[in-house]
Order: sequence, then C-alpha cells, then structure tokens
Amino acid sequence: MSKTTQYVSRQSDEKGIIHWSDEDNAVWRDLVTRQLEIIQGRACDEYMQGLELIDLPRDRIPQLAEVNQVLERETGWQVAEVPALINFDEFFRLLANKRFPVATFIRTREEFDYLQEPDIFHEIFGHCPLLTNPAFAHFTHTYGKLGYAASKQDRVYLARLYWFTVEFGLLRQNGDLRIYGGGILSSPGETLYALESDKPDRHEMDPVEALRTPYRIDIMQPVYYVLDSLDELFGIADMDIMALVEKAKGLGLHKPKFPPKEKMAS
Ligand SMILES: [Fe+2]
Repeated sequence: MSKTTQYVSRQSDEKGIIHWSDEDNAVWRDLVTRQLEIIQGRACDEYMQGLELIDLPRDRIPQLAEVNQVLERETGWQVAEVPALINFDEFFRLLANKRFPVATFIRTREEFDYLQEPDIFHEIFGHCPLLTNPAFAHFTHTYGKLGYAASKQDRVYLARLYWFTVEFGLLRQNGDLRIYGGGILSSPGETLYALESDKPDRHEMDPVEALRTPYRIDIMQPVYYVLDSLDELFGIADMDIMALVEKAKGLGLHKPKFPPKEKMAS
C-alpha cells in the first residue's frame, strides 16, 4: 500500500451503484480484453473456474453487488468499497470479516501497463475469481484475523507471506507452472515474466522463508514461491503462523535480490 496517490475512489450512490465514466469503462474493457488472452494456459485452473463463476462483464466495470452475489454464495466472502488508500488496521479488519477491500477507482491510460496502487481491475480481476475457492478464501480469512490481532512489527512479516501467496504466488498443476497470485494475474508483463523468464528464482513454498524475504512493490519480482497445489493453502492456514513469524524474526531477513530504491519512501 503506497502512502500517496493521484487517484480518488468513486463513491456509490444511495442504491449502492457506482457511476463510472465512459472512459473508465473503456479502460476496463481494454484491460480485460488483453489480460484474458494472456492468462490462457498460465492462470491456474481454480482461477479460471472462479472467473467463469463470476462471469465479469467485458464492456463495463462490474458493480460490487454483482460480484458479491457470487462470492457470498460460494465462500461467504464479499467485496467492500474503500477509498484509494486505507491503513493496515482497516485492511486487516475487513479481511478478518471476509470482506475484500476494493478501491473504487480505475487506472488512467497513462498508467495502463503499470501502477503501484491497487485499482478495481487489480482487485476484481486479479483476486476475486480465487475468492470463490475454499482454500484461498480460508487462507485469506485466516491471514486477516491474524493480522488484525498482530503488532505493527509482526504485520510487516505477515505482509511478506501475503505478498508471496495472494499477490505473487505460483503453483504447480499437471506438471506445469501456473499462476494464482492476483498481482501477477492483473499484470500482462509479469504474467509472462513470472512463468517464462529465466531471471527470477522460483522456490518451493516454505512459509518461514517467505516471511524472511524482502520485496519491492515497484519492480518485477526477483523471487517467487511455488505451491504444490492451491489446497496447500489450507495446510499453511492451519499452521501456527505467528510462531513461524517468531522463527523468521530469529533467523533474520534474507539479503534482498534487488537494488535499493534510489529514493526511499518514508
Ligand atoms: Fe492485491
């Protein structure tokens, strides 16, 4: 989550409807059209099944109520309309209540390929299909509850586990590498890079290792962690994750595999 943004979320009216501009809808259409092609054979089967269930409109941004109907029925999750920036407390509180925060703005054409702030395309297209999956839904809910109760310092560790699963996770399916992380699935460049480039390291998922791995939000990831199956998330959710955080603290962080940022955000 970045600390400043040029974007402002649109607010729903008294009926819960968000009035998107024609340009907003056109940006959505162009993003969805391009990304649907790129994820074929690259996104994991569970994501593709979720996408079918949610049945997102191509020509306009969906209303949150449309998405909620499906999520509620499948796993009891909902999406929640939030401003462009929310703090960690609010973020974890929402997840702990099975509400996935969706900032209701969409990127401009100038940032069509890449933006740091999670917009509605990232949240809905990237994450919501998998929120129909029981293992992913359970893991995300567990993470929210732990994060809500955690100290500020522990939340920084937990954020790494989220980063290397929910946002940038890979898994193995029928002998192939596939994507389940929403940060990858909403980025055309990283969808190709994550699976096909020989630059990044791809390690077997080990939660303690993920907790110890620093990341940057503004570059293609130098490291990914790979699950044996999406159901492995059930197993991780059942671990004593806060004990793993303590273990990670004791072992210390791994050396970053990326150069330091030139201008550090405060
Ligand atoms: Fe995200």
